[in-house]
Amino acid sequence: AKAEPLKVIISGAPASGKGTQCELITQKLFIQYGLVHIAAGDLLRAEVAAASENGKLAKEYMEKGELVPDEIVVMMVKERLLQPDSQQRGWLLDGYPRSSSQAAALEDYGIRPDVFILLDVSEDILVERVVGRRLDPLTGKIYHLKYSPPENDEITSRLTQRFDDTEEKVKLRLRTHHQNVDAVLSVYKDITVKVNGNEAKEHVFAQIDAALTHVGEQRKVNSGSV
Ligand code: AP5
Repeated sequence: AKAEPLKVIISGAPASGKGTQCELITQKLFIQYGLVHIAAGDLLRAEVAAASENGKLAKEYMEKGELVPDEIVVMMVKERLLQPDSQQRGWLLDGYPRSSSQAAALEDYGIRPDVFILLDVSEDILVERVVGRRLDPLTGKIYHLKYSPPENDEITSRLTQRFDDTEEKVKLRLRTHHQNVDAVLSVYKDITVKVNGNEAKEHVFAQIDAALTHVGEQRKVNSGSV
């Protein structure tokens, strides 16, 4: 029988490296698993860019570094998780759940990950990562002026910065994170893998890769295929 698709949640403070690690995970694991990357922040930014009603409301909260209300976020993420590609290939959920009510909503829908990866990064490093982050609007790739500089001048000239990526706003985002993180962790404590996210991105990825390989092997043992 075909194995159930893998389901992964990746969490961590603002700029802890969730998006960067998701890029590396989907590149490496695409052939093996084909996981669909679902980032709550990216779904919201798409609504903001489309100037939809939800997007206009969401932007008010994002600018204050606060959580966008559940009425918008919960359905948006749930619908994406239930799309055929996510169901068939498995998913890598980034930046959700961020509160006990969002975690409870997933549990109510019977949606539970195989593993919950927590990127642990110290606060001074987070601020530096936010301030230096740039995005390539053409490819969606995440850069950092110091740690992951763009490959050439053409890319450099088109890089953009997120509207909430200032030192002042990241402090607000961090405060929101600290208010909610313990409640979310308590829901997933039996499947949490804490990863030291202070290291270079390749080293962080090596830890995640090892954890996902371990989960994959355990699933094979549990399903009786080895
Ligand atoms: P969201 O977009 O999810 O932002 P976030 O959680 O603040 O996380 P980031 O995207 O800023 O960072 P990241 O961890 O992906 O780091 P990255 O890999 O880019 O959310 C934005 C807003 O949307 C929220 O404030 C909220 O308002 C709203 N929202 C989102 N989800 C919500 C939800 N569930 N409910 C309600 N509201 C929600 O890395 C950062 C930088 O560091 C990059 O420049 C990168 O190149 C660099 N870097 C990464 N790893 C390393 C490394 N190991 N070493 C050196 N540099 C590194």
